[in-house]
Amino acid sequence: MKGLILSGGKGTRLRPITHTSAKQLVPVANKPVLYYAIEALVGAGISEIGIITGETGEEVRSAVGEGERFGARITYIPQEAPLGLAHAVLTAKEFLGDDSFVMYLGDNLIRQGLTGLVDAFTGQAPSAMILLAHVSEPERFGVAELDGDRIVRLIEKPKVPPSDLALVGVYLFSHDIFDAIDAIEYSPRGELEITDAIQKLIDTGRTVQPHIVSGWWKDTGRLEDMLEANRIVLEGLERSVNGDIDETVTLEGRVVIEEGAHIRRSIIRGPAIIGAGTVIEDAYIGPFTAIYHDCTVISSEIEHSIILEHSTVDHVAGRIESSLIGKECIVSASTRRPKAVRLMLGDHSQVEV
Ligand code: DAU
Repeated sequence: MKGLILSGGKGTRLRPITHTSAKQLVPVANKPVLYYAIEALVGAGISEIGIITGETGEEVRSAVGEGERFGARITYIPQEAPLGLAHAVLTAKEFLGDDSFVMYLGDNLIRQGLTGLVDAFTGQAPSAMILLAHVSEPERFGVAELDGDRIVRLIEKPKVPPSDLALVGVYLFSHDIFDAIDAIEYSPRGELEITDAIQKLIDTGRTVQPHIVSGWWKDTGRLEDMLEANRIVLEGLERSVNGDIDETVTLEGRVVIEEGAHIRRSIIRGPAIIGAGTVIEDAYIGPFTAIYHDCTVISSEIEHSIILEHSTVDHVAGRIESSLIGKECIVSASTRRPKAVRLMLGDHSQVEV
């Protein structure tokens, strides 16, 4: 079996971060979301992996490389435009050959490993196996209507969902999916939808098996989902303290301090992770916070947040919370007169002051 990870697309819901970066590379607990997908595939014995890329292809390629460090062989497959998940599969036709494959959406995170699913799929050889999860806002996803164990209907982002069972972004396909994709049309939103292709498999009498996921699952496409994914992954961390920490520092609970971090006169309350080369001084880092590598946090308080590499938070009054701060940002106290809030924000930024 091969793996196909989709890492193209537009990322409009995570702007402005995605104006300059791939949404699949935003770190969750200091690890790019995309790495979790690669690790899940490798963990299930799949080492031949294709990655669909779009405009951010170069960045994805330099972050992931050829795959040796994951124990995988990675092939990059540029998609001409984000024309849909089924279009991405067509784009990968040559790479996939006659093999069956696991398709993994590069912005999805699921807790359960793939080994059991891959074994079930190879043992039973259905045309497709889809993963489903109970969600509170099914209208944001592809939704399945089941009759017992049988899938009756799949609809992409229905206004009136027939159930609360969302399609999770992990699919197992046999080569049959190509005939189904050939038989569908572009949807009203201008995409060749994988949901329609799977419906076509069902309509033509092929076996499509549903599997309801047991653990958590997150589509990290929106800020609140990204923060929630970060919270969940941090909760599973093992305490590990490296770096340079002075005797006045208090570390509470599950805290990960990476090698090369410098912490002075601060309180870090876990679960939290501080990246390599980051300097924290006279600060409070609260639960569910991930500060990536080479950041600086001075005399400030942060919790339930993600800060990307090379950013600085300096003497900010009031606690920063539920925030996503991009790369090389500077958030600092204003000391100049007149006293005022001074901003230089990218397009689509959101600030609450
Ligand atoms: O997250 C699960 C949902 O993913 C499913 O419930 C839906 O049925 C499915 O259509 C999909 O919906 P989204 O609207 O969330 O998909 P999105 O456009 O965010 O794309 C998912 C991933 O695939 C993302 O990493 C970008 C990548 N992608 C997307 C498109 C449209 C590509 O690589 N190429 C594409 O053409």
